[in-house]
Amino acid sequence: MNIHVIRAENYEEMGRIAAKKVIKLIKEHPAAVLGLATGSTPVGLYRELIQDYRQNGTSYRSVRTVNLDEYVGLDQTDHNSYFSFMREMLFSHIDIKEQNTNIPNGKADSLEEECLRYDRLITDLGGVDLQVLGIGRNGHIGFNEPGTSFESNVHVVQLDQSTREANSRFFDSIDSVPSEALTMGIATILRSKEILLLASGASKAEAIKQLFEGSVSEEFPASILKNHPNVTLIADQDALQLA
Ligand code: GLP
Repeated sequence: MNIHVIRAENYEEMGRIAAKKVIKLIKEHPAAVLGLATGSTPVGLYRELIQDYRQNGTSYRSVRTVNLDEYVGLDQTDHNSYFSFMREMLFSHIDIKEQNTNIPNGKADSLEEECLRYDRLITDLGGVDLQVLGIGRNGHIGFNEPGTSFESNVHVVQLDQSTREANSRFFDSIDSVPSEALTMGIATILRSKEILLLASGASKAEAIKQLFEGSVSEEFPASILKNHPNVTLIADQDALQLA
């Protein structure tokens, strides 16, 4: 397997190791293009980045960001939108310029146009230097559910019931979890120069085992990462317990 694995003690250490890699990249390339993710997994990484910014002043003035995905139909101001999440968890705490941050617009009049715009935007930025990824329990990356074509670019997806259930913890009820999202496709993600896959907790242990032992198949989207030349998995003991 091509994936370089770094074992972390726990969630906090996973975040610290990931943050070191991001900070190193920004110091070497102040105008780097960072691909960012949402969910509980990268929050520890973002906390570390904020702490480093406060203590050491690492600047994000020239950094550009592109997020993986966004729910369809939520206003940016909705506290469950990934737009709000990124502001709350990272952007409002560092000196990044608002205009340098990008998230798909899940309220666009034409979602198809929005997908094309977002694809072009990533290309115009020169591609993603470092993409941060979490992994869903069913192996999804971004919002690419099992069965998504490995050739996919930015597209609209119907969320799996299991994904809506997993994410319903942030919503009032499962019924308020949107049923659609916009996401970078698998091909979009694979074009990133480097990928940092993060996994923490026993709930991800099966997915990590499957990643290590299973074949490369569209039925398990994360498996394609084994074909990318520069992927590092930073996972804690609990996530690695079955691998
Ligand atoms: C969500 C996101 C993914 C994320 C995954 C895991 O559906 N779209 O980008 O990686 O779920 O989430 P968590 O980190 O909360 O376990």
